Amino acid sequence: MKKKRLEIKDKLIISIDVSKKNDVISLCKRINNKVTTLKLGLEVIYSTDFSIIETVKSFGYKILLDLKLLDIPNTVTGAINSIYKLNIDMVTIHVLGGKEMLSVARDKLQELSERNKELPPLMFGVTILTSLGSVDLRGMGFKDGYLSTVLNLAGVAIDSGIEGIICSPNEVRAIREKFGNNFYIATPGIRLKRDSAGDQKRINTPGNAVLNGSDFIIAGRSITGKDNIEENIEIYLNEISKALKSNESYKSN
Ligand code: C5P
Repeated sequence: MKKKRLEIKDKLIISIDVSKKNDVISLCKRINNKVTTLKLGLEVIYSTDFSIIETVKSFGYKILLDLKLLDIPNTVTGAINSIYKLNIDMVTIHVLGGKEMLSVARDKLQELSERNKELPPLMFGVTILTSLGSVDLRGMGFKDGYLSTVLNLAGVAIDSGIEGIICSPNEVRAIREKFGNNFYIATPGIRLKRDSAGDQKRINTPGNAVLNGSDFIIAGRSITGKDNIEENIEIYLNEISKALKSNESYKSN
């Protein structure tokens, strides 16, 4: 897959995790189009309704719809018919649903988009939630800890033909070393040095995520939980930009 060239403001995706339509609107205004894409997930969608997508788009944002789909292939494909009509730019699905579920969901999105002569939304497979550590995984029967579990799931996602995966910033380098660069990686679990981890366990800074090879930084509370959102976004964009420059000078040496 050929990846698009991304601007720095495309690389930072801000996660909107609030329950009132007015709070969503207020964040759309306070973010002031300093980034291209906002992520809407379970909290926003279940507390409002799908029309919130049009509201957010009316401010000029692209949408990552974080639905984390997980079901049998037939059910997920059925849902894709309706998700396609929402006109979103990216959507998430759990890799744990298996290769067939991922492939049929992705093929359905592709088929619907081609029929309308549009580019399909990018499909991102969630490997292991960034709120889980090795102890959690062992407790659930994953004997190998998170790194090899994430690597196995990344392999399944890439084989299925979906465009990207989601993992913590700390696994990106190993994934790039094993599977290369022809797919997108988006990383939540992002914190600045000053932030507390909260419920996230596998965290790192935006700069380190980009240095490791992440294409998209997904950040929520570290940006939206502070008073001066625009100033926070600037800090993020600067870190991302520095890391990109340092990756480029590494490549040219
Ligand atoms: O506030 P914070 O930056 O921790 O928010 C991270 C966002 O990314 C949340 O909306 C969460 O649902 C989402 N996410 C995640 N881990 C994943 C996939 C998505 O934290 N593996």
